[in-house]
Amino acid sequence: MDKEIRKIIEDMDFLKGIYRELITILPSFNITDKKVLPYGLKPHTRSVSWLVEQVITQQTKYRKRRLGLDDVKFDMPATCLHDCEIKVGKEIYYINVKIHNIDKRENKNDIAAVEKLYMQYSSNPSYNLIYACFGIAFKGINISFDADYLCLFSPQFLPIYVNPRNDKIQAYYHHKPIYRTRNQFFKRTSERVNKYSIKIRSLRMEEILNKIFNEDILNGIDRIPDNSVDLVLSDPPYCLGKDYGNNSDKRKPKDYLEWSKKWIDAVIPKIKNTGSFYIFLTWQYSPEIFSYMKSKLIMINEIIWDRRVPSMGGSTRKFSSVHDNIGFFVKSRKYYFDLDSVRIPYDPETKKARTRSIFAGKKWLEVGYNPKDLWSVSRIHAQDPEREDHPTQKPLKIVERIIKASCPEKGVVLDPFMGSGTTAAACAMLNRDYIGFEINEQYCRIIQERLEKLGKDTPLFSLENEPEEKDNEKIEEVLTLKFGDN
Ligand SMILES: C[S@@+](CC[C@H](N)C(=O)[O-])C[C@H]1O[C@@H](n2cnc3c(N)ncnc32)[C@H](O)[C@@H]1O
Repeated sequence: MDKEIRKIIEDMDFLKGIYRELITILPSFNITDKKVLPYGLKPHTRSVSWLVEQVITQQTKYRKRRLGLDDVKFDMPATCLHDCEIKVGKEIYYINVKIHNIDKRENKNDIAAVEKLYMQYSSNPSYNLIYACFGIAFKGINISFDADYLCLFSPQFLPIYVNPRNDKIQAYYHHKPIYRTRNQFFKRTSERVNKYSIKIRSLRMEEILNKIFNEDILNGIDRIPDNSVDLVLSDPPYCLGKDYGNNSDKRKPKDYLEWSKKWIDAVIPKIKNTGSFYIFLTWQYSPEIFSYMKSKLIMINEIIWDRRVPSMGGSTRKFSSVHDNIGFFVKSRKYYFDLDSVRIPYDPETKKARTRSIFAGKKWLEVGYNPKDLWSVSRIHAQDPEREDHPTQKPLKIVERIIKASCPEKGVVLDPFMGSGTTAAACAMLNRDYIGFEINEQYCRIIQERLEKLGKDTPLFSLENEPEEKDNEKIEEVLTLKFGDN
């Protein structure tokens, strides 16, 4: 048997053992018992089956030590194919929990949208989804698990029948596995995708505009349709060991460069043909990254941002570094660029000095000059009114200049590394739409507050799952809902 197939079977056996243990510890529960949901009920829970799924994921986390697990994460965005991630050592298992009411007939059930599966598997070569299906029986408000029903399956081994009504793969929860390799599975799903003429489409644009996703850019990028973004304004970690409350700036140089290529490759298809891609870097890695980007895009400028660092001692064994390197790239020569919106007006004195006849009537004298590629803008000081609690916040003046020049009004700006949300704030003020990603939840909150101050409401994605006391009260509301589909 193929090694890859064997690994999936072993993973499923391992997880089945964990879940068997879980339902031995918790064979049944009362649906109104707050204790079964120690992290609170997810808002928007619409059915009892959703609730039971939450009990399973939360109890797995709550009892992780006893179950021999290192961690269980369940705050997945709503669009995610899996409900939780179980971490054991270096392994991460992606689990989708399903429920089957064993009093009912065994029907074919919708599993996952075929294009979503196709996209997720094709964009992440190490993604392996595992479904864990629990059989349950109701007695009034008491729910009990049936250990004999418990079954785990991989979409890779499913008979692929697509429900034409909703493009979802359908399968019986108990079915005979078809042992396909990843490539065979991939071929089969792509055939189905083509057969049903389903374009590999991402979520509709309106659903993602002006939102911040508390998510790794590499996980979230598929939300964005190809050729839909006017400007990518990116300020990634620099590989200088900065503390962003995570290890994102603490990679080894080789890993950093590999990772940079990965996210750059993922972002480029999202840019329109007329679009631009700006990237903030420092001198340490800009040569390698610029040279990689030049193999994919056209380089227009290297802008030097002089951070106007005051002269106070500084390095003694080299010249003090006081600049960032901003790369400006485009997809095609037809790129959008509005110089007039960023011209710098001449002061009256200079204007007066240029009264000689050769300057008369010159447009640039009236409208101002090109800002050139050396931008002297002070970095954000501790006392600066713009200041947010982020170690590498960029000044609005710089970000605004880039947006005005390279994104038309009502256009879309993608910032894969939002930090304190400078891009979002600038977009809100300049009448542009944005899509943002930021892995640090704390920073996402800063962005939200920053936008609120500007009178904008920003729905943050995936923060909605955090435990809240009041959510427990919703259990009773849920009781009144029918046992619905999940
Ligand atoms: C240089 S800072 C951005 C600062 C931002 N331009 C500002 O003005 O506040 C980089 C940010 O990227 C975030 N980050 C790092 N890796 C990420 C990833 N894979 N996906 C999304 N955000 C990430 C970090 O948490 C950090 O806040």
